[in-house]
Amino acid sequence: MSKSIDQKSNKIYSSWKSPSNIALIKYWGKHGRQLPNNASISFTLSHASTTTSVIASPRPSNEKLAIDFLFEGQSEPNFGRKIDKFLTSIRDEFFPFLYSYHLEINTANTFPHSSGIASSASGMSALALCLCDIDQQLSGQAEYNESFFRKASIIARLGSGSAARSVFPTMSVWGQHPQILGSDDQFAIGIQQNIDPVFKTFHDDILIVSEKQKSVSSTAGHNLMNNNPYAKARYHQAGERMSQLMKALESGDVETFGKITEDEALTLHALMMCSDPSYILLEEGTLSVIKWIRQFRAESNIPVYFTLDAGPNVHILYPDQYTRQVEQFIADHLQQYAQNGRIIKDFVGQGPEKLG
Ligand code: PMV
Repeated sequence: MSKSIDQKSNKIYSSWKSPSNIALIKYWGKHGRQLPNNASISFTLSHASTTTSVIASPRPSNEKLAIDFLFEGQSEPNFGRKIDKFLTSIRDEFFPFLYSYHLEINTANTFPHSSGIASSASGMSALALCLCDIDQQLSGQAEYNESFFRKASIIARLGSGSAARSVFPTMSVWGQHPQILGSDDQFAIGIQQNIDPVFKTFHDDILIVSEKQKSVSSTAGHNLMNNNPYAKARYHQAGERMSQLMKALESGDVETFGKITEDEALTLHALMMCSDPSYILLEEGTLSVIKWIRQFRAESNIPVYFTLDAGPNVHILYPDQYTRQVEQFIADHLQQYAQNGRIIKDFVGQGPEKLG
């Protein structure tokens, strides 16, 4: 049993490194308490991650939360307030120990702040893992088993929907889907055992077209789906694409994988463009990169594809065996579109890691 309780002070310690993830079938539109309107699936990433450490010290019981929040060593009152609100909303149900413990939370990202990479998935999942770990230590259990990660996925989801998918290696599915056994709206499940090996070493080079913060938050974007005239058709389409993609992932069909993945990325942004009010998160550079990828693929027959998050940056996806050719292609044609030359070279990863 791995316990990190200081016997003298009764402080409890937990530290986790948790990765970001990139959705292939996108979650866009939600209801209730952060529940998805369609099932989504993602690659777990490796380099883009957050490390969070929490020290819980006993204190006299009090209604008010007691939290010190440091981001990369600096006090961050804005983040701190958000975390405070989030923890207040879940403490009765999940973490009553928060009434009688002070928390010191230290968090740092491996990717630069304001690099255009959202940190909510890695950040929320790292925090969820630390809290579940402390809770588990307090109750005398310390096995990092399926139910531990399931609970961490639920907590991460309540913090930021897509974070639910960050607590498993390789690939995760979040949201109930009739053909995926065990899939659920409340938590994500790991599906690595059903995936062909070609996808387990896939690369994701993230080309930062713009480092600017996006003009419309994903919370606002999800809300706009409530009145989007295409919403019903979209949720149906996501379900169909999920079935097709699962088959492709199982059989190692990279071409079908690529087609569905690109269609999903463009659908996500099309939904934004036909929201009311409409908005565009793509930049000119995004379109240029997409065109280059399609042209290069057609000419070279090398299976390189793109996906997009809710922003202008392009995730360039390809099998490991083509690394040399794709790196050359990026250097020759795509590098020019990267703001400050920034490309984060990432790949499918092994999921969260307990550091202490
Ligand atoms: O987790 P949120 O609320 O930031 O929503 C994320 C939505 C997308 O990143 C656009 C898609 C996804 O499934 O991750």
